[in-house]
Amino acid sequence: MSLDEYLRERRAEIDKALQAALPVPPDCPAHLADAMAYSVTAGGKRLRPVLCLASCEAVGGDRAAALPAACAIELIHTYSLIHDDLPAMDNDTMRRGRPTLHVIAGDGMAILAGDGLLTEAFALLTREPRGLGQTMIDRKLRVMGIVATAAGPSGMVGGQAIDLASVALGADGTAPAPLSADGVRTMHAKKTGALIRASALAGAVMGGASDAQMDAIDRAAAELGLAFQIVDDILDVEGASADLGKTPGKDAAAGKPTYPGLYGLEASRTMAAECLARAERSLAAASLADSRLIEIGRWVVGRDR
Ligand code: IPE
Ligand code: IPE
Ligand code: MG
Ligand code: MG
Ligand code: MG
Repeated sequence: MSLDEYLRERRAEIDKALQAALPVPPDCPAHLADAMAYSVTAGGKRLRPVLCLASCEAVGGDRAAALPAACAIELIHTYSLIHDDLPAMDNDTMRRGRPTLHVIAGDGMAILAGDGLLTEAFALLTREPRGLGQTMIDRKLRVMGIVATAAGPSGMVGGQAIDLASVALGADGTAPAPLSADGVRTMHAKKTGALIRASALAGAVMGGASDAQMDAIDRAAAELGLAFQIVDDILDVEGASADLGKTPGKDAAAGKPTYPGLYGLEASRTMAAECLARAERSLAAASLADSRLIEIGRWVVGRDR
């Protein structure tokens, strides 16, 4: 199966499971359910859930065991996008090819839809898969910890806080000190890398990975996570709105610290390719070179959307 066919198949599975996981009336107020569904069903590449399933299969697991975690992470990712786009954050009006949720439903409802997606993700993680023996229950608990840590203040939320502070003027109007190269790498590793890492790790845990496999997948996914945000920064400079489904050129306009801003486009491309090469070496060292993970890594670095 080609990667395109593989992605189409996995996305169909993921979209079906996401649809089933979304809350519905009467328990959830209809307008809140609509707001959550608006952003989740708008599409998106589904990289994180695909990576989660691929990682489960790479270690010999049954991907059905990883599907709830895959969906939970996509719900959390979608919440992070809704909040990232708010006027108080990146102030974006287009996402996944549609007007952003706050444009359609207002800031308050967008905040609540994000809150709802985050909490629903953990409800899903506790609820499914159902009827497990002790080994699988232990894996589920471990996944909850991995996802919570990655989504929280030491992970994505922490990275977003660094991002915000990097452009926030002081009370006297002074600009913040520019982030160092290490600072930008840390910001990227947290705001984007953490959830991508957690996606691969959650799949590996549910698939019963050995310690050596976990370690290799963790190192590879950390590289892919950084590469992903480097490419996101590059696409913000040279991507087209019709491909991206969001408005390019925002980072430079907002004065955001980015890889192209720090190193230029060519060097940024080289650095993303180096991340990919390191990821491939980690996977190969754990005999995971034949899995889909490598192809997914190449897609992450070579994408134009
Ligand atoms: C965008 O993520 C936000 C970042 C973390 C860079 P994606 O590019 O994966 O967005 P979707 O899910 O495809 O819309
Ligand atoms: C956002 O990074 C990362 C998140 C945690 C959502 P960006 O702000 O660069 O993402 P885009 O470019 O708006 O998708
Ligand atoms: Mg942002
Ligand atoms: Mg943004
Ligand atoms: Mg961006």
